[in-house]
Amino acid sequence: MAKIGDIEVGEFPLLLAPMEDVSDPPFRALCKEQGADVVYTEFISSEGLIRDAAKSVMKLDIYEKERPVGIQIFGAVLDSMLQSVEIVEASGPDIIDINFGCPVKKVVSKGAGAGILKDIDLMVSLTEAMVKHTKLPITVKTRLGWDHDSIKIVEVAERLQDVGCKAISIHGRTRAQMYKGEADWKPIAEVKNNQRMHIPVFGNGDVDSPEKAMLMRDEYGLDGAMIGRASIGYPWFFKEVKHFFETGKHAAPPTMIERVEAARRHLQMAIDWKGETLGVFETRRHYTNYFKGIPHFKEYRMKMVTSDDSASVFEAFDEVLEKFGDFQFA
Ligand SMILES: Cc1cc2nc3c(=O)[nH]c(=O)nc-3n(C[C@H](O)[C@H](O)[C@H](O)COP(=O)(O)O)c2cc1C
Repeated sequence: MAKIGDIEVGEFPLLLAPMEDVSDPPFRALCKEQGADVVYTEFISSEGLIRDAAKSVMKLDIYEKERPVGIQIFGAVLDSMLQSVEIVEASGPDIIDINFGCPVKKVVSKGAGAGILKDIDLMVSLTEAMVKHTKLPITVKTRLGWDHDSIKIVEVAERLQDVGCKAISIHGRTRAQMYKGEADWKPIAEVKNNQRMHIPVFGNGDVDSPEKAMLMRDEYGLDGAMIGRASIGYPWFFKEVKHFFETGKHAAPPTMIERVEAARRHLQMAIDWKGETLGVFETRRHYTNYFKGIPHFKEYRMKMVTSDDSASVFEAFDEVLEKFGDFQFA
């Protein structure tokens, strides 16, 4: 049984990865219903939080039904990070996660996200200060290293553990790789195989089939899998992995009725949370995957992703059900 601090998260838990503009409350709720064991918010700027930037603060919204939930923050300035820990605590998450892996220039150039992989001492001291500043478990999400020549993840993970980090999720790419190439899980297995490691080591990167999740568990010996892109517009992925673990067989894919029902609920929850305009806008990226593989679907997809009002999107869902209700997904 894996534990994050005192929180039991199951045998080989499946974690919903933090994803900007994706891992919001409606989507987290759907993933949780479909078997995600732990869910994370998208990354939230510590500087934004302490300035009380409305956009950052809204990202703190969490709901009882999604627990255990981690709020992820990023930053590189100790004082801002500590202040934002206090702000985050007030939202009542179960876990606070530090993003030491974001590769984008505007984050890295400030020394935050994966930028901190160039200064491991700072990474460790920030983590230590945050651990001391809260009773909540602090977890870290990071990458293998800055670039191929500077991978020291075994040592880094051990140092983070020693200052009180309660779990580490490692994306099997370097910052230099961004999202290119294949994720390499071997260095993550080396972290796990370090005799001194006792906190959970979660693998991340390219888990896009139940077989790969099984490989991560059985061949690489990791403690859980963090899943990102495979879940976008496909919250059923978590349940399908669990079904495969239990039976060795693939679950039947969700039917059209289930897909339309999920898309409807997703949109409604998004509107309830963010209002009509943002709700409509921010659910768009999921529709391609909800309805992947249906021939001659373009007209309907266009209606879903270009309509500005929810009534038209709901209408498109009804039309899809009417026209493709019997479609058999592979
Ligand atoms: C749209 C998108 C947004 C992301 N936003 C974040 C983020 O806010 N915080 C973070 O730690 N990683 C973020 N990531 C990285 C993912 O958490 C994950 O590490 C990466 O996608 C690899 O996992 P996967 O192959 O399962 O998608 C993001 C990835 C995507 C695709």
